[in-house]
Amino acid sequence: MKPFAHRTDPLRESIFTTISNRARELGAVNLGQGFPDFDGPQWLVEAARASLGGEGLANQYAHTSGAPALRAAIARQQREDWAAEFDPDSEITVTVGATEALYATLQTLVDAGDEVVVFEPFYDSYVATLQMIGAVPRPVTLRWPSFGFDDGELARAFGPRTKAVMINSPHNPTGKVFSREELERIGALAIRHDCWIVTDEVYEYLTYERSHREFVQWRSQPAIRERCIAISSAGKTFGMTGWKVGWAMAPADVSRRLRLVHQFIPFCAPHPFQHAFAHALERRHEYLEDFRREYRHRRDLLAEGLRALGHAVLPSEGTYFLQVYVEEGTEAFCRRLLERHRVAVLPTAPFYLDAASQGANIVRLCFAKREETLREALRRLGE
Ligand SMILES: Cc1ncc(COP(=O)(O)O)c(C=O)c1O
Repeated sequence: MKPFAHRTDPLRESIFTTISNRARELGAVNLGQGFPDFDGPQWLVEAARASLGGEGLANQYAHTSGAPALRAAIARQQREDWAAEFDPDSEITVTVGATEALYATLQTLVDAGDEVVVFEPFYDSYVATLQMIGAVPRPVTLRWPSFGFDDGELARAFGPRTKAVMINSPHNPTGKVFSREELERIGALAIRHDCWIVTDEVYEYLTYERSHREFVQWRSQPAIRERCIAISSAGKTFGMTGWKVGWAMAPADVSRRLRLVHQFIPFCAPHPFQHAFAHALERRHEYLEDFRREYRHRRDLLAEGLRALGHAVLPSEGTYFLQVYVEEGTEAFCRRLLERHRVAVLPTAPFYLDAASQGANIVRLCFAKREETLREALRRLGE
């Protein structure tokens, strides 16, 4: 048989799958994979059920750019919560989660051989997508303990072939929230090199120290907005990661091209869940305050418990992840936690281009878990 397409050669099984399979075999508490071990609000499940049985033909294909009710709800949410303006008809495209928004965006903007600046550690789909396109990731390392970046390294990552820079804030896996000053430095280079900016904001409501509003104010400046594709999704905010509805927000000319690409990937995102999330966005004010308070509580519970056990917990300003610095190296550490204590955590080396770099000493733990799950993990770790 002839070989598989060479562009798929660099792809590996995601570390999430590997760890979760082993955790299941051992009956381990899984703090490795990044999703809640509880459901989002019951009223949202009922909204999804209602849209399955409603008369709006929600069981048929949605409009390819997204159900109008959801696009309108996203535009309102952006305006009311972050003071950003997007026209729902021409500037918002609903996708199959943020993952497809990222994939479609990079397919829209980047050719084989182009370079894209990514901050490492990066969410693993970024580099996999770039590899499938044949593009070249140019990493800039966020260095512990503060996860700041070096100006010289950033400047050197940009060059004549740079097509885009990707920014994830709040950032998985570090929990970093990029400061306005850092964003200005990145934006200045993007403007100087006339390249696109792709922002991944899926944890927009999970900030503990300062609001995501600062980030959106930065990307709403005309010189940034005209080159920015802003991506988010509903899965994290509403605790329904399996529903896979996301969106890309960009100027009309960019959205027009992106919609052509999206049309030939899934055509549309799951229609009933689009209606459910439109409803969820309209009701977000009665939900988000508790949501954030509970996540802050979970973060503090896990961080304090780990510190009491002697672990070097790194600060997390956002997302639902905590990182721990591991002197002995992550491979031995993760194995010991999994095999001896039956607690799964995630090595972060796969989030770096060079696995021997910073990631060799940092693990990620997900605190989007029931309080009893977190307490059980801490109890096992103390054994
Ligand atoms: C930074 C980041 N971007 C994108 C995604 C994917 O989001 P979705 O489930 O909406 O595709 C995740 C999921 O973990 C993530 O952590």
